[in-house]
Amino acid sequence: MTDSLSIRDNRTGRDYELEISDGTIRAADLKQITANEDDPGLATYDPGFVNTASCRSAITYIDGDAGVLEYRGYPIEQLAEQSSFLEVAYLLLHGELPNQAELDSWMHEVTFHTFLHENLKQFIEGFRYDAHPMGMLMASVSALSTFYPDAANIADPNVRQDQITRLIAKMPTLGAFVYRHQQGKPYVYPDNRLSYSANFLAMLFKMSEPTYQPDPRLVKALEVLLILHADHEQNCSTNAVRSVGSSQVDPYSAIAAGVGALYGPLHGGANEAVLRMLRRIGSPDNIPDFITGVKEGKEKLMGFGHRVYKNYDPRATIIKKACDDVFDVTGVNPLLKIAQELEKIALEDEYFVKRKLYPNVDFYSGLIYEALEFPPEMFTVLFAIGRTPGWLAQWSELVQDKDQKIARPKQIYTGARTREFVPIYRR
Ligand code: CMC
Repeated sequence: MTDSLSIRDNRTGRDYELEISDGTIRAADLKQITANEDDPGLATYDPGFVNTASCRSAITYIDGDAGVLEYRGYPIEQLAEQSSFLEVAYLLLHGELPNQAELDSWMHEVTFHTFLHENLKQFIEGFRYDAHPMGMLMASVSALSTFYPDAANIADPNVRQDQITRLIAKMPTLGAFVYRHQQGKPYVYPDNRLSYSANFLAMLFKMSEPTYQPDPRLVKALEVLLILHADHEQNCSTNAVRSVGSSQVDPYSAIAAGVGALYGPLHGGANEAVLRMLRRIGSPDNIPDFITGVKEGKEKLMGFGHRVYKNYDPRATIIKKACDDVFDVTGVNPLLKIAQELEKIALEDEYFVKRKLYPNVDFYSGLIYEALEFPPEMFTVLFAIGRTPGWLAQWSELVQDKDQKIARPKQIYTGARTREFVPIYRR
């Protein structure tokens, strides 16, 4: 055996040889390494899965040191420039770019599943006026499972495809309804004559005009943003989708878990946090003090750093360019100056250089979202809509992967052992 790892257990003096495949050893192979008869076997301790592969996947490739991101082998730069969001969704789900007939049929399917059951609208109406859109989105995605009980039959590929289409089609409608709810404005039903992104903008912003006509440059910018967010291999929310999906629950419940994970400020919630941070800094003059606070560990520079990228996040580079296109239409967001100056200072500072902290996808995306007139609470909803095809492609891969089992990590138990119960009057 050449691709193998020799291990000597110094507790026992025994030698073991483990197979190396695809640069990994199987954690289960470590179980044979025992110190004594009662020992359940060696395991690895890896909080946050920093060095543990949980699956084999053919969807998204990232080289974090080189700043490379590819969906099914296609570089993100080419997809952002040349394709549409639904084309990318098809690619993620099927592994190949669609031909014209396949794309037409896919666009038709998605377009004609955009409506929600009226009860779901009433469900959203039940939230308080100041409910966070991500909380409303998570709950309403989860509620969708009650409208499609057949979705539980995940072994049937046709049933799976139906839910995939429904989720991709209905996410913008849910996102727009929660936004209108928060604004206290009447909900706008989907307009099936419009493209995916144009329809989303119409459901968000249409008032009394008979047909909402979004600026095509803004529609293009939104498409680019959705494409950039469409998948990112085993990130926190995708791991949540896979983990919950591994119980063989319906996809709505699994995707709702993804929405919950995305909500957090260390993940998709970072774009909202970046905008609030930039507003708080307020002026380039305040940046040095802010950076000092970050270096002293008082807070984080939101929108910087990434588990995988130890170089510029390629998505951030594309977004920076998209900012110019959007600001041509909307006028420059005054926070851009603060963001640019903050980036410049951070990239020259030893603290950030040493830790290889670069701007990530969330650093500039909020500036565009704000220019498009989204309130900060909506930013992560946009991320969720973009990420939905990726979550579904990963879920679909999971349910067809014979290697997969229900997710169930081990623990190192550190608590007390077998104690006698003490009645309350004696405590
Ligand atoms: N500001 C200041 N220091 C940072 C930052 C930051 N944004 N990110 C990491 N560090 C420091 C961290 O304190 C640690 O320092 P030390 O070695 O002295 O303890 C070092 O850099 C390594 O960081 P880590 O926390 O071990 O890295 P991680 O891989 O566990 O975390 C991260 C990755 C994205 C959670 C983290 O960089 C972070 O919190 N960034 C800010 C939030 C953010 O922008 N999140 C969006 C990520 S991209 C899109 C997405 O996934 O949704």
